[in-house]
Amino acid sequence: MCGIFGVVGHRPAGPILLEGLKKLEYRGYDSCGIASVSEGKLHVRKGIGKIDEVEQRHGLSGVPGTVALSHSRWATHGGVTDQNAHPHTDCAGRIAIVHNGIIENFQELKRELHQKGHRIASQTDTELIAHLLEEFPGSLETKMAQAAARIRGSFALLAVSTEEPHKMVALRCESPLVIGIGSDAIYAASDVMPFLEHTDQAIFLEDHEMAVITPGAVSFENVRTRSSVNKKPRTLQWTAEQAGKEGHPHFMIKEILEQPAAIQNAMRQDPDKLEKFVQLIRNSRDVKFVACGTSRHAALVGRYAINRLAGKTAEVYIASEFSYFADQSTPDTLIIAVSQSGETADVLVGLRKAKAKGAKVASIVNVVGSSIDRESDASLSLNCGPEIAVASTKAFTAQLVVLYVVAHALAGKSAEGTAALKQVAAHAADLMPQWNETTRALAASWTEHEHVYFLGRGVNFPVALEGALKLKEISYIHAEGMPAGELKHGTLALIETHTPVVLLNPHDYTFVDTLSNGSETKARGARLIGVSDRSNEAYDAYIPLPQVAELFYPLVSVLPLQLLAYHAAVLRGHDVDRPRNLAKSVTVR
Ligand code: F6R
Repeated sequence: MCGIFGVVGHRPAGPILLEGLKKLEYRGYDSCGIASVSEGKLHVRKGIGKIDEVEQRHGLSGVPGTVALSHSRWATHGGVTDQNAHPHTDCAGRIAIVHNGIIENFQELKRELHQKGHRIASQTDTELIAHLLEEFPGSLETKMAQAAARIRGSFALLAVSTEEPHKMVALRCESPLVIGIGSDAIYAASDVMPFLEHTDQAIFLEDHEMAVITPGAVSFENVRTRSSVNKKPRTLQWTAEQAGKEGHPHFMIKEILEQPAAIQNAMRQDPDKLEKFVQLIRNSRDVKFVACGTSRHAALVGRYAINRLAGKTAEVYIASEFSYFADQSTPDTLIIAVSQSGETADVLVGLRKAKAKGAKVASIVNVVGSSIDRESDASLSLNCGPEIAVASTKAFTAQLVVLYVVAHALAGKSAEGTAALKQVAAHAADLMPQWNETTRALAASWTEHEHVYFLGRGVNFPVALEGALKLKEISYIHAEGMPAGELKHGTLALIETHTPVVLLNPHDYTFVDTLSNGSETKARGARLIGVSDRSNEAYDAYIPLPQVAELFYPLVSVLPLQLLAYHAAVLRGHDVDRPRNLAKSVTVR
């Protein structure tokens, strides 16, 4: 969802914000803009398009002043237009704000502000907040506290005003916001990425907390009680180098190729934290995974692993649907939230509802300090470094690894799990170059196809889902992942001559049945791509897998499927790291 970034310092803010904004672009890239305060005036530059395009047209980095805020948009209210781009200002042009989130009572506020004579220029919910601030007297933080009492919804806000030119106010309510404490500037941003190259000292805001930032100083207060809050910075583990492309054309390919190392890093879990996590599973009769998209696919493998290894049953919920069941949670319920960003709104809403009924929460996140991490009773980290490409790859494999580690610990078989995972990492490193070549060639034969099917059974079924999701989201080829046995109950009608069917078919307990389903598609003209540790005459094309223990096939089979999606997207000429309509961190419901 939208990214916000502001700075209060002594150096020109424009270039700092432009560079930082690029690191937030993965959160949204419909439009962007910057507003600064200098010599008693607001300077607003904004427009539709990617950041580089808007910089070329409007010279974002040239805004004067050392106090400024910026925004990268993923449209929610109002179309993708120059007018709807943030920052937004009040009628008098004295206050500028940027916002991530959604204002639920925007219609009511709009009517009210309209009646009071405010001139509302855009269709966004955000602009209303600038006008609302204008309504209240006092300092910028007083205005903000009063406005916050009137707004319903989720929001992270930054505001500046010409009346207090050396101040920025930052407020969080259900949308992420973090303050970076640098030696010569203080930053406020949706996540740590934009200020990582300036500082590793960060303070995460909680809901209803506001930061009042002036050059060299920041204070915190709770906007509901108006009492001050004492907050200490924590040292971030990520480095600015990890957040670069390191010579690769796209973040996605860099992140795919990093996976042998990511597997090793994800295996390294703090023993105390792991034990706490595992105890929560042991002590709960009702275990529910809650996650979205790729993270849910990892959870499906995790459910399988804890069941096969430790005999523990669990359900997996799509987070946006879970909120309709969350009220049935009890103190015997354990929610396992799986989330790369740790900020996915659907997951947060579900876990909060379950907690209100007494449930415990254990989470697996990549972003340490994120809302899901902080709101959990136990939390494990993916340790895979920042994931920038919108399409998740290394976070998925790291999630699988953490889930395997948990399942083995639960079964009292940690040493066995560690040995198997090390072997998988070595195989992945060996085969990666070959997979890269094979899938590039295969993708070249796909650029004309509009429909692709991915089939798998048992523990391989979630990989079919994940392979299809990756292909869809970046190549825009329609793809479906299915349990192989389900195909004949309807979807088989769509198989025509040359339709590509990717068969997740390792020589495990699913092999015979899966092959038979693949053959059924081939008999209807499908082009069968076998993903297996052994070739078979039924395959028209073959992606080799190493031989690993049954449970671990997802960890190796997903890697060539990610590469396949990547190469298909590159060959079709798409912006791989920034697929249309999507954003990395989905902080709205
Ligand atoms: C797909 C993808 C998404 C995310 C989903 C959940 O490549 O990245 O499907 O997996 O939006 O995000 P997190 O894991 O941050 O909760």
